[in-house]
Amino acid sequence: MQTIFDTIKEVSLKIDEIIINEDLGYVDETNATGDQQLKLDVACDIIIEKAFRDNPEIKALISEEKEDVMECHEDGKYTLCYDPLDGSSIVDANLAVGAIFAIYEGEPSGDTLVGASYVVFGPRIEVVTLVRGEKPIRYRYINGAYQLFHEIQLGEKGHINASGGSQKHWQDHHIKFIHGLFADGYRLRYSGGMVPDLHQILVKGGGLFSYPSTADNPNGKLRILFEVLPFALIYEAAGGIAIDEKGRRLLELTVSHPHARTPCFFGSRYEINRFKDEYGIE
Ligand code: AHG
Ligand code: MN
Ligand code: MN
Repeated sequence: MQTIFDTIKEVSLKIDEIIINEDLGYVDETNATGDQQLKLDVACDIIIEKAFRDNPEIKALISEEKEDVMECHEDGKYTLCYDPLDGSSIVDANLAVGAIFAIYEGEPSGDTLVGASYVVFGPRIEVVTLVRGEKPIRYRYINGAYQLFHEIQLGEKGHINASGGSQKHWQDHHIKFIHGLFADGYRLRYSGGMVPDLHQILVKGGGLFSYPSTADNPNGKLRILFEVLPFALIYEAAGGIAIDEKGRRLLELTVSHPHARTPCFFGSRYEINRFKDEYGIE
């Protein structure tokens, strides 16, 4: 798996270059989930595909930007699912964006997820990697090299509250829960990019990120295979909890389709337990 992490680090330097230089306009098509695609989404997808498709360890590639599974090597050990550019809707405002990778051994599911990684393209490039069973590790790219920074560990309770979707479409119990956190002093920190938003909670030791079911998106917005499961593995490994609206571990969800979505809640233990109380989950 280490070679996969090495390739992610290398390819991130190329992605960073094109984020800085590429035209930010749209292509004429939408992707598999109906989002309008930026030229940048497509360019990042192609760079990642090229970096991995000839690696004999890779059985298949599943990308947010590709409708179908791309079969690579029949005897490959891993299926790599990825979101090549997370935060397409905020890149034009020059906010931090990211890329997310989930490494599955066998048919992709929470059980077969053996590793995860994400990259933050902010003022600096940072990469977080996780081998299942170990702690997530944070690297920073400084002076032309990746440097190991530290292991990531969440505290019991944080002070950040990041809740996605439009409040107009939130359900009443979600409004009550989120407002209750603010009333207790939680700070709103939500950029609209799950990578920087979830990363901030991880590196500042705790808090809550939620993307609930909403009137306009009953299954939430975030995609299970390449957005939700890799972060669920990372949050659990960091000592946090990652569940859906019914209190099920995200890592135990069944995946009906490569582009399926789910409502999701990631956080340190206090906030998730409070969420369960408010939502009436056992
Ligand atoms: P992507 O750019 O890969 O389509 O993902 C965007 C996602 C995610 O990064 C973020 O948390 C969410 O969209 C924001 O959605 P809302 O604007 O509805 O809160
Ligand atoms: Mn995304
Ligand atoms: Mn994306």
